[in-house]
Amino acid sequence: MTEQLDTIQSAALAALLTVHDEAALRAWYATHLAKKSPLMTALGDLGKLPKEQRVEIGKRGNEVKRALEAAYAEQEQAIEAQALARTLQENAVDVTLPGRRPRPGNLHISTKTLRHIYQVFGEMGFQVYEAPDVETDELNFGLLNIPPYHPARDMWDTFWLDNGALLRTHTSPGQIRAMREMYPNPVRVILPGKCYRYEQITARSDHQFYQIEGLVVGHGITLADLKGTMFHAARRLYGADRVVRFRGSYFPFTEPSVEVDMNCILCNGVGCRVCKYTGWLEIAGSGMVHPVVLRNGGYDPDEWSGFAFGMGLERPLMLKYVIDDIRYFYGNDLRFLRQF
Ligand code: DAH
Repeated sequence: MTEQLDTIQSAALAALLTVHDEAALRAWYATHLAKKSPLMTALGDLGKLPKEQRVEIGKRGNEVKRALEAAYAEQEQAIEAQALARTLQENAVDVTLPGRRPRPGNLHISTKTLRHIYQVFGEMGFQVYEAPDVETDELNFGLLNIPPYHPARDMWDTFWLDNGALLRTHTSPGQIRAMREMYPNPVRVILPGKCYRYEQITARSDHQFYQIEGLVVGHGITLADLKGTMFHAARRLYGADRVVRFRGSYFPFTEPSVEVDMNCILCNGVGCRVCKYTGWLEIAGSGMVHPVVLRNGGYDPDEWSGFAFGMGLERPLMLKYVIDDIRYFYGNDLRFLRQF
């Protein structure tokens, strides 16, 4: 019996020498250590032996079992180590290869354009003044000469907030904030920022967009100052061939009010698809600050006068770069963003 156990042990250990992968190892276990293996059968049959042999054979049987288990564990470790070594080798990094350069990001087209605008107006002595996106009815409308019953409110479809505040529909409320902060000094600021309108989103209009408001308040400011400023800005922003013209218009916060047009950047005024064959592109609403608005800002309209304008950001860019859908601006599609 003891010999039989010796044979079982040496056969199993010999078989283990040919095991080199996990599947074979499992098969080996099934044959040599699992329930129906010769060893386990022998151990199970101990009871059938004469009493005086049981202790000795049992002891030997357990020794064989421990030896096989130890050999199994050792081989298991060896196989694992080999597998790891293989993986490492297969995935080895060739440190002499040139690296992959991460692509640096770039500024958003709107940010770049805003910075250009700051520079152009900065050169003319304008400060950049930022006002909040969440405004009160009072600032967005009332103090700009648009009382609650005024039909001009229809010009701005508004996102109202639960607390009665609103998302500014234009950057004009910043005019009041700037004047109140700067009184009694003259004012020369641009007020850039996002505006929001409760509108259908289409290729032509989004519910959020940028405006750049401008405000100048001083002694003896006239419409000629407005025209000179717009003329210079148009040339600096859109090229030396620009000319501007005024068209009479209406805004509650300016009197008189005008729309500012510049000759088309693509056809120089000849007429093309971009300017719809008019030769002109609209760039801003503007006018002389209404006396009521000056007073609301703290300035006496008998002593002070001023002009204001409001320009869009995305529309002119769409014309300049022939972008046919405004939704690209905030869609975050890298294929669009990387072009600028
Ligand atoms: N706030 C106007 C709008 O969003 C634009 C505008 C027109 C601003 C005339 C002005 C201005 O400052 O004088 O439609």
